Amino acid sequence: MSKFWSPIVHALTPYVPGEQPKIQNLIKLNTNENPYGPSPKVIAALQAEAADSLRLYPDPDSSRMKAAIAEYHGLQTNQVFVGNGSDEVLAHIFQALLKHDLPLLFPDITYSFYPVYCGLYGIQYETVPLNARFEIAIDDYLRPNGGIIFPNPNAPTGIPLPLADIEGLLQANKDSVVVIDEAYVDFGTESAVALISRYPNLLVTHTYSKSRSLAGLRIGYAVGDAGLIEALIRVKDSFNSYPIDRFAEAGAVAALQDEAYFQQTRQQVIAAREQLVDDLQALGFEVLPSGANFIFARHPQYAGEQLAAGLREQAVIVRHFKKPARISDFLRITIGNESQNLALIAAVKSLLQA
Ligand SMILES: Cc1ncc(COP(=O)(O)O)c(C=O)c1O
Repeated sequence: MSKFWSPIVHALTPYVPGEQPKIQNLIKLNTNENPYGPSPKVIAALQAEAADSLRLYPDPDSSRMKAAIAEYHGLQTNQVFVGNGSDEVLAHIFQALLKHDLPLLFPDITYSFYPVYCGLYGIQYETVPLNARFEIAIDDYLRPNGGIIFPNPNAPTGIPLPLADIEGLLQANKDSVVVIDEAYVDFGTESAVALISRYPNLLVTHTYSKSRSLAGLRIGYAVGDAGLIEALIRVKDSFNSYPIDRFAEAGAVAALQDEAYFQQTRQQVIAAREQLVDDLQALGFEVLPSGANFIFARHPQYAGEQLAAGLREQAVIVRHFKKPARISDFLRITIGNESQNLALIAAVKSLLQA
C-alpha cells in the first residue's frame, strides 16, 4: 500500500490466475492450456517474423489477422475486433458496452474475471444462480438488465448450453448486449457465431490460448455487429493502439492456415477427455458433462481441497476453487496428453488407497 494510490486502486479485488509453477517437471493440469504444441506452420511464421521488421511498430489495425478471422467465420472485417488475449477483449467489452443504469447479469458460478472487470469499471451487476445440475437456465435471465455475459461452455463447470437456448435468450432480450464467451467452444460446443447476422446485440469472443495452443502469444477476438465492434475500437484506441504485436499477428494468421492440425489436435483432446471421464467415473467421481478442454469433478468421500493438495504432493497440479461453497469439493482438471492423464489417474488412485 502507498499513499499515492488512487481511490479506485484501494477498492480493487484483482483476479488471481492459476499458478504458473517455477518448479520443472510438474504435470500441469490447472490452467486449461493445450497439451499439444501449436501448429508447425505457426512456429515457421514466428521464425520468419524475427527479422528486421521488429524495429517497426505493428499494424495498429491488425488488418491481416482481422481479414483471416473474418474469412474463417464468413464475416466482414468490420465485424471483427482483436486484442491481447480474450481477457483484454473482454475488458474493453465491459467498459464499452456493459456499463448501464441496469445491472449486468452473469452466473453465480462462472469465469471469475467478470466481477473483477465490474470492480475496475464501476459496473453494477447481479449474479444468477446456476440450477441444481449446475446449468445456466435461460429463463432466469429474462428480466431488465444492462447486459448479459456468460461463457459457453461455462467455466469452471464445462457444461455446454445448446444454441437453441442462446437463440431463445436473444429473441427475448433485444435491448441490451449479450456476450457469449466462447473460450472453449472448439472442444465440442455449438458456436453462436452463426447467429450474428440476425442479432445486432450479440457479441461472441474467442481465444487462441486453448484450441490453437497459443496462450503464450496472447491473442483473442470478438465478432459481432459492426456498431458494437466500432465501440471496442474506440476504447482500444483510447488505451493502446498496438495490442497485437508482430509475432502475435503472424502466428494468428498462420494458425488459421493449418485447419488440418487444428482439427486433429482438438479431436485428440476431445477423445482424451472422454477417456479421462470414464477413468474418473470408474474411481467413483461425479463428473459434470463437459464441452471444454477440462472437466469439473468431485468425489463423494474426499474434500476437494484435500485431493488437490494430495495431487500436488505427487507433482500433479489441478485447479481448486474454495468459493463458493457449492463447488468447493470440485476439482477443475485440464485435459492433458495421454501420459499426463495416465499420471493423473495413477496419482488419484494412490490417494484413494491411502
Ligand atoms: C471463460 C474464459 N474466458 C476468457 C479467458 C481468457 O483467455 P485469454 O485471455 O487467454 O484469451 C479464459 C482463460 O482461461 C476463460 O477461462
